[in-house]
Amino acid sequence: MDFDQLYKEQFPVVYRYLTGLCGNQALAEELTQETFCRAIEHSASCYCSRHHGNTLKVLEAMAGEGQAALIDVTTRRTVRLEGYDCIGFASGIYYGKFQESVLAFARQYLPRGKPVFFVCTYGGAKGAGAKALSKIAEEKGYPVLGEFGCRGCDTFGPFKLVGGIAKGHPDAQDMEKARRFFHQIQDRLS
Ligand SMILES: Cc1cc2nc3c(=O)[nH]c(=O)nc-3n(C[C@H](O)[C@H](O)[C@H](O)COP(=O)(O)O)c2cc1C
Repeated sequence: MDFDQLYKEQFPVVYRYLTGLCGNQALAEELTQETFCRAIEHSASCYCSRHHGNTLKVLEAMAGEGQAALIDVTTRRTVRLEGYDCIGFASGIYYGKFQESVLAFARQYLPRGKPVFFVCTYGGAKGAGAKALSKIAEEKGYPVLGEFGCRGCDTFGPFKLVGGIAKGHPDAQDMEKARRFFHQIQDRLS
């Protein structure tokens, strides 16, 4: 039986089961989708990309290279990350840092011993943006596989007056570098 057929036949069964368990149809649908995605996806990237979707563009380029789940931490209510081989945490850099909700997600949901990687986009400089995440990783004993960063169009505050900085980024070259990074992560896991 191929995956499409399995999905078509078993989705209602799993959905009914989970609705009975949690008593919430919206949550049950989310969990059912996650169950099936988990069967084919190897990595998950938990992200916040609220300014221009720059970070999401980079993650989508990476996800196109392999089976990767993209989890928006600002809308996802709950998640189980145990089944993935590695977990990415990704964000635009806001005031020199990764968005707090990404850090909170890492603290709450990252299972012990799971390899992680970090992705960020920034208007000017990433600075020490991933430092807080690295600290969480270290405290929980996660191996950090790598970190990818590139510039992303920034129209925040005064930059809006000049039409933004890092215009056009992430561009094709950034995307290509992101794909290469993702392959390196996969190679390190195999
Ligand atoms: C509120 C805010 C604060 C920002 N702070 C910084 C910063 O400290 N350093 C920097 O280089 N870029 C900063 N930026 C620019 C973003 O990091 C950049 O545009 C990034 O690509 C946004 O990613 P996103 O579109 O995925 O949210 C800031 C943008 C916003 C909206």
